[in-house]
Amino acid sequence: MRVFSGIRPTGELHIGNYLGSIKQWVEFQEKAECIFCIVDLHAITTPYNPRELQKNILEMAIAYLVAGLDPEKCIFFVQSTVKEHLELTWFLNTICPISELNRMTQFKEKSKQFKESINAGLLDYPVLMASDILLYQTDLVPVGKDQKQHVELARTLARKFNRKFGKTFKEPQVLLPKIGEKIMSLQNPRKKMSKTDDPKGCIGLFETPEAIEEKIMAAVTDPGKIIKYDSMKKPGISNLLTIHSLFSGKPIKGLEKNFRNKGYKEFKKSLIKLLINSLEPFRKKRKELLSREVYVREILKQGTKKAQMVAASTMENVRKKIGLV
Ligand code: TYM
Repeated sequence: MRVFSGIRPTGELHIGNYLGSIKQWVEFQEKAECIFCIVDLHAITTPYNPRELQKNILEMAIAYLVAGLDPEKCIFFVQSTVKEHLELTWFLNTICPISELNRMTQFKEKSKQFKESINAGLLDYPVLMASDILLYQTDLVPVGKDQKQHVELARTLARKFNRKFGKTFKEPQVLLPKIGEKIMSLQNPRKKMSKTDDPKGCIGLFETPEAIEEKIMAAVTDPGKIIKYDSMKKPGISNLLTIHSLFSGKPIKGLEKNFRNKGYKEFKKSLIKLLINSLEPFRKKRKELLSREVYVREILKQGTKKAQMVAASTMENVRKKIGLV
């Protein structure tokens, strides 16, 4: 079984990214053939600073290592270093209806957010993502809920291509985590946690203990005092319960019981302690890896080599099927 997923190098990883995706990846590397990508070509579809891109890529590679990805057990590499992603995007563009792209939720949201730069790359983002996935004959794509629609488009394009040119691609399945598919903002628990949208509602993977305490204490809760999971009526406390459960490994029902006669403040104190203790090893390891840039860059280079072999073999077949050879 082959697993593929990716993250944009747009700055520090947050616990939403970690719980929604990387945490699953770490488990998969033990039992499947895994390929994980730092998707820099996706990152440049929204405004960014070219001088910071390389730094962000390196930071993301370090975050992958810190979170537990092992280059001996999985492949990880930078998207732009395997040119086949771009070539396949062009071919898939020729079979992808524009109407499919226009209805993508992320495109609509980002178009509102970045009114000044609604570029063709932003519209084409899901086709590049489909290429990432299909290039490696992927079976499973572990992502957060916001990416489900994009993976479904990858399935549609695989089917369309196979029908038109003969069986070429596997149809990938999306895999959402059982809990944590959408970690919400601490400031607005009806919106997903996102660093670019609101940094105060977001906890970075390398956040300091002081910032963790401040952000959790300021996290929006709901009327009433009861610690109970109800995502419709009590989205704030439900989100905090989800985060607690995923870091402590305790089921939500058990947490509700433990905090039955206690208030929000006590629950928040416990969550702060848990987060500080859970993220402390990440911060330590990041610091250590920041001084080993050559080692990290070598891992990416080796990853590119391995990914390129798989990509080249798929593309040889694709070019033949399309009639270009
Ligand atoms: P990106 O960088 O926006 O998000 C990376 C991963 O984090 C998940 N995620 C969340 N999960 C739970 N709660 C949240 N608040 C939250 N915020 C983000 C996302 O669902 C994603 O899994 N387009 C992709 C990157 C990509 C990709 C691919 C993924 C490019 N090509 C091929 C899989 C396969 C993205 O949104 O990245």
